[in-house]
Amino acid sequence: MKGAGAEQKDVAAGTQNLNGSGPDAEVRSRLDAVWELANDALFAVSLDGIIVAWNRAAERIYGYPAQTIIGKPLSLLVPEDRRHELETTITSIARGATIEHFETIRLRSDGVPIDVSLSIAPTRDEKGRVTSALAVARDITAIKQALRQAEVSSVKLSEREAMLRRALLALRKSLEETKSTQLHLVQAAKLESIGRLAAGVAHEVKNPLAVILFAIDYLAETVQRPDANMVGALNDAREAVLRADSVIRGLLEFSTATELTVSKEDVNSLLQKALLLVRHALTKSHIFVVEEFASDLPPVMLDRTKIEQVFVNLMINAVDAMPSGGTLIVRSRREQLKEPGPDVGYRRSDPFRVGQTVIVIEIEDTGTGIDEATRSRLFDPFFTTKPPGRGTGLGLAVCKPIVALHGGTIRIGNREGGGGARATVIFQSIRP
Ligand SMILES: Nc1ncnc2c1ncn2[C@@H]1O[C@H](COP(=O)(O)OP(=O)(O)OP(=O)(O)O)[C@@H](O)[C@H]1O
Ligand SMILES: [Mg+2]
Repeated sequence: MKGAGAEQKDVAAGTQNLNGSGPDAEVRSRLDAVWELANDALFAVSLDGIIVAWNRAAERIYGYPAQTIIGKPLSLLVPEDRRHELETTITSIARGATIEHFETIRLRSDGVPIDVSLSIAPTRDEKGRVTSALAVARDITAIKQALRQAEVSSVKLSEREAMLRRALLALRKSLEETKSTQLHLVQAAKLESIGRLAAGVAHEVKNPLAVILFAIDYLAETVQRPDANMVGALNDAREAVLRADSVIRGLLEFSTATELTVSKEDVNSLLQKALLLVRHALTKSHIFVVEEFASDLPPVMLDRTKIEQVFVNLMINAVDAMPSGGTLIVRSRREQLKEPGPDVGYRRSDPFRVGQTVIVIEIEDTGTGIDEATRSRLFDPFFTTKPPGRGTGLGLAVCKPIVALHGGTIRIGNREGGGGARATVIFQSIRP
């Protein structure tokens, strides 16, 4: 260690010709103290990669005593896969460059890798030529390990955070579902009481209406030579009674929507029948019909009359939305539900379940479409945007419970890309 020490001191001081007295001696002795007391490994390497000086901290950090390592190649300290660093480092030091805080891995004498932060500077002779490199190596293994652990904990933390977020989402979803179920229950209760009320009122009003109609017809027949005013008045009265009667009939339909008589039906032929029933309205409004019926539909257990009524209501709504013509597209298809959606889930309480095969019916128009305000009220009884005397606002209010009683769903929205509306009715493919 002594011989090595002498060499170390020369290199550390960067002065080879000190005479041991005067200010130079003081500088040199200060540098000696730094060399010996430093906590970081200090060592010098010749430009051909041989270790020429080695301090005590270097012995502690790398595990080699000075007398063993001095004269040995620096590559002893460098792992196989990092040997390329040696060449680049020595080349840049030889060019006079300094390297600061270069973090890398080196090997201890027992082969254990350690994390080090290296700072290397060239040392020069009196002519300013680079003669060797002086390296300061700080053992940062503990810091690195702590960082790696922090990284692992941070990954674990973000995993936990993601898990919590997923749980929160699921919680929110189930809260929303509970709310919507509550809403449906309230709505159903409301509809039921409206239904009962409607049935009572309808029965009370139907008979007086029949009497009035009879009286109008009687007058029309018995009045001799009625003037134009009288004819007009009688016609208006008849129309008013007929209209009142249609409202009453709507109410009755609405209140009796709970009773079904089902049998195995072919959805396509029900759609065809409904189209036949609205043919007159379609022709009158110059509406072109496109039929896209799937040929492989299995039969469905349906109440024929009621479902025809649903299809007719949807088609008439489409016609009404296209007063100056357009296209009515009627589609049927069989579909396997692949993904969860508004009515599709995994639980028994969901109307449809993922993986189930259903029959989808779409009635699409190129009409006005539906605005946001209308959308939320579509299925409300008596909600209509049609001029007074045109719609009763019961059409969809009747459709919804009918479809629901069949275990199906009905949704109405705008077509993708706008330019009209689309009603989608979905049935289970068969119900025992
Ligand atoms: N295809 C559609 N395009 C645009 N708006 C529609 C469509 N279908 C329904 N609507 C809107 O929904 C409202 C309610 O429809 P619903 O069938 O319940 O009643 P209505 O058609 O107004 O009257 P009713 O059917 O009793 O004669 C309509 O007034 C209309 O504003
Ligand atoms: Mg309608």
